[in-house]
Amino acid sequence: MKTIIEPFRIKAVEPIKFTTRAERRLALDNAGNNVFRLRAEDVLIDLLTDSGTGAMSSDQWSALMRGDESYAGSRSFVRFHEVVTELTGFRHIIPTHQGRAAERILFHTILKPGQIVLNNTHFDTTRANIEVEDAEARDLVIAEGRIPSFIHPFKGNMDLDRLEHTLATDGDRIVLVMVTVTNNSGGGQPVSLENLRGVRALCTRFGKPFFLDACRFAENAWFIKQREPGQQDRTPREIAREMFSLADGCTMSAKKDGLANIGGFLAMNDDRWAEECRNLLILTEGFPTYGGMAGYDLEAVARGLEEVTEEAYLRYRIRSIEYLAERLTAGGVPIVQPPGGHAVYIDARAMLPTIPPLAYPGVALVNALYVDGGIRACEIGTVMFGLQPDGSEIPAAMDLVRLAIPRRLYTQSHIDYVAEAILEVAANKDALRGYRITSSAKRLRHFTAEFALLENVSTGQHAEASAFAG
Ligand code: F0G
Repeated sequence: MKTIIEPFRIKAVEPIKFTTRAERRLALDNAGNNVFRLRAEDVLIDLLTDSGTGAMSSDQWSALMRGDESYAGSRSFVRFHEVVTELTGFRHIIPTHQGRAAERILFHTILKPGQIVLNNTHFDTTRANIEVEDAEARDLVIAEGRIPSFIHPFKGNMDLDRLEHTLATDGDRIVLVMVTVTNNSGGGQPVSLENLRGVRALCTRFGKPFFLDACRFAENAWFIKQREPGQQDRTPREIAREMFSLADGCTMSAKKDGLANIGGFLAMNDDRWAEECRNLLILTEGFPTYGGMAGYDLEAVARGLEEVTEEAYLRYRIRSIEYLAERLTAGGVPIVQPPGGHAVYIDARAMLPTIPPLAYPGVALVNALYVDGGIRACEIGTVMFGLQPDGSEIPAAMDLVRLAIPRRLYTQSHIDYVAEAILEVAANKDALRGYRITSSAKRLRHFTAEFALLENVSTGQHAEASAFAG
């Protein structure tokens, strides 16, 4: 059989609310033209993020009842610890309530002002948690990874030549080398085992620790199985374990490939760093055997980490994203090629060439998708990354719009609807206009910024009314 079906049946359903175009236009206006500020119930299909938004399995829901809520040394922590140790092999496993808590604890512990962390591409919270320590987050993804239309099997790979050069020239300021699997901000693109081995070898040679940002490790492992010579006969779990074995530690958001709604961990081999991180954890997250999670959360994550490497799940997961990508490509919508593991990224800069990066083509597209189709997507571009530490603003490397697909949540007809709605917006794209920011925070501004529609981009005139024109 050619059809890859959802490898599950549905046991509980959650109704979604239908709205009219006029209702959505009003809702977006009230939200300052920022879809992060919408009420979720006013969204029909929510592709804002794949983080914490997936459906748990019946096994995970029943595991919740096993949750041991003891403050210290709970049975649920023991189980969580066993599963994470079996998967990652790291000596110290430190639970945190989500990925950015692991980042904040790690970076606050190890970084001093002026120091540098290298990564293929830092995710926004990762970058912000480095910059808040007055340290530098430097991206070294391969050149192919910066060209949306370029097809390459492992576009998330680290540029090993630049890594070697950077380690040789700035070595005394570099504290940590990270690789994000899959590379979310670069289009959800995978990193090959060969590349991870190369990073490992350079880190060993220059005496630097190497951590994975492991949020989507299982999707990365599946791509390795599909695309890397010699890996076809291994299980995704074996491949994932080798990925972890090459690193000295990881940060993890269990809201992605933990298949849970909340949770995460920080793991590492270094005893001294681990002790300092645990001390900070107690101060801000909780005791080291729960770290901000409930006992039942630890159970859900433990079970999720087992389910996520099942082949039937990963085959369906990656195929469902490819399916949406194929429909958009057939309709002429420019997307990051090949599609990533958790999302399809539309190249908004290529799709809307008349809207310059500083007029936020990504926001123009996101807002049109919401008003036209009730779909909530996410700008990953100049709003998210364009603001510099000194307060100036430059175009981000790319202006992408991410359609992140929550795990096990939507069916094929939902995805068919999404494709249809996007193609309709694409057919009317000449009506779209850019935006300016009317208020924003100094860091992570995309979450709360408010926008007004630009009247006329070329003359720089601004519209005072914020109504959507599309
Ligand atoms: N690292 C990566 C690569 C991520 O994608 C995320 C979150 C984090 C770290 C932080 O984890 O949310 O649990 O604190 N990404 C979500 C997203 C928010 O929509 O891509 P968190």
